[in-house]
Amino acid sequence: MAEEQEQVSLKKTYFFSPGYVLPVIMEKNNIETVVKNFEVRDEDVFLVTFPKAGTNWTLEIIDAIQNIDNIDILKERSLMEKVPLIELGPSTHPEMVEEGITDVPSICQVMLESVPEGSPRRIPTHLLPDISPTQLFTKKPKTIVVDRNPKDCLISLFNWHQSVRFLDPCTWEEMFAAYMKGHTIYGDYCVFTKAWAKYKNEPWVLWIRYEDMKKDHKGSVRRIAEFMGKSLTEEQLDEVVRVTHFLYMKKANETIKGREFILRPEGVWQRKGVSGGWKNTFTVAQNEMFDKDYHEKMEGYEDLKYDL
Ligand code: A3P
Repeated sequence: MAEEQEQVSLKKTYFFSPGYVLPVIMEKNNIETVVKNFEVRDEDVFLVTFPKAGTNWTLEIIDAIQNIDNIDILKERSLMEKVPLIELGPSTHPEMVEEGITDVPSICQVMLESVPEGSPRRIPTHLLPDISPTQLFTKKPKTIVVDRNPKDCLISLFNWHQSVRFLDPCTWEEMFAAYMKGHTIYGDYCVFTKAWAKYKNEPWVLWIRYEDMKKDHKGSVRRIAEFMGKSLTEEQLDEVVRVTHFLYMKKANETIKGREFILRPEGVWQRKGVSGGWKNTFTVAQNEMFDKDYHEKMEGYEDLKYDL
C-alpha cells in the first residue's frame, strides 16, 4: 500500500522537500534554478534570518548605512523594495491567484535586472544554506546572520499569519502544533540555526542577536557598519539609529508604497518590537514542551543556545 502523504498543517504552505515547508508565494522551481544560480557580487550584503528574527530592522540599518549620504532615499522605497527576499515569487499558485496576488515577480530576476553592477545590494533570505545561492559560499560576500529567541519568533510569526495576505490566519493552538511538527514556514528553527552555525566564525559572516540589537542599538549599528567596511561619524551613527528606531519605522511603514498588496487592511507590519513577549501567550504546558524539544535539538550547540 502506498504510504499516505503527509499534509501541511497550515494553508498557503507546501512541502518544498520532505518535512520542509515554505509559503506558496515562493516557487520551488524558481528556488532550485534561479535562486540557486543567482550571480552574487562582491559588493552584495546578504542578510540571513529565521522568519521574524528582525529582518526588516536589520535591512533598514544596512540600507541606511549604504545610503548615509542620501538617507531620504529610504522613504521612497516600496514595501517589496525594502524587503527583497531572494526566494520570493513568482506567484502563480492557485491560492495566491484566489487571493488576488498575481504579479509578484521572481525577486532574483528583479535584482539582477534593476540593480546595476557596482551598486550595493541588500539581499535577505530565510533559506537553508543548501538551497541558497551556490555563489554565496564561493564569493563569500559580507553576510549578516541575525538570531532571535525562537519563542519570540514564533509569537511574531503567529501574528504575521493574521496580518499578511499570502499566509492564512490561524489560532495560536494551530500555530503551536504546526511548529512542533516542523510545519511552520521555513521549518524548524533549530535545523536552520545549526545549518548556518557552520559559517558563524567565517570572516565574511557577522552573527548577531536581535536581543543585543535591542539592548544596544547604536553599538549594533556601529558593529554592522564596521563589518560592512563603512566608517561612520558619531552623527552619522546617530542618524542611522534615528531612522531605524522601532517607532520611526512603524510610523513610516503605515503609509509605505505597496502596503495593501502584502498586508490585510487590519494587518500590522511593525508589531511590538520587544524581547520576551512570548510569556504572555505560551501556556505552561506549551512552554515545557518547547523547552524540551529545543534543548534536545540544540545539544552540542551551547554557544548558540538561548536561556529560554
Ligand atoms: P514582533 O512581532 O515581536 O514585534 P522580521 O522583520 O524578520 O519579519 O521580524 C519582525 C519582528 O521584528 C517583529 O517583532 C517586529 O516588530 C520587529 N521589528 C521590526 N522593526 C524593528 C525595530 N526597528 N526595532 C525593534 N524591533 C523591530
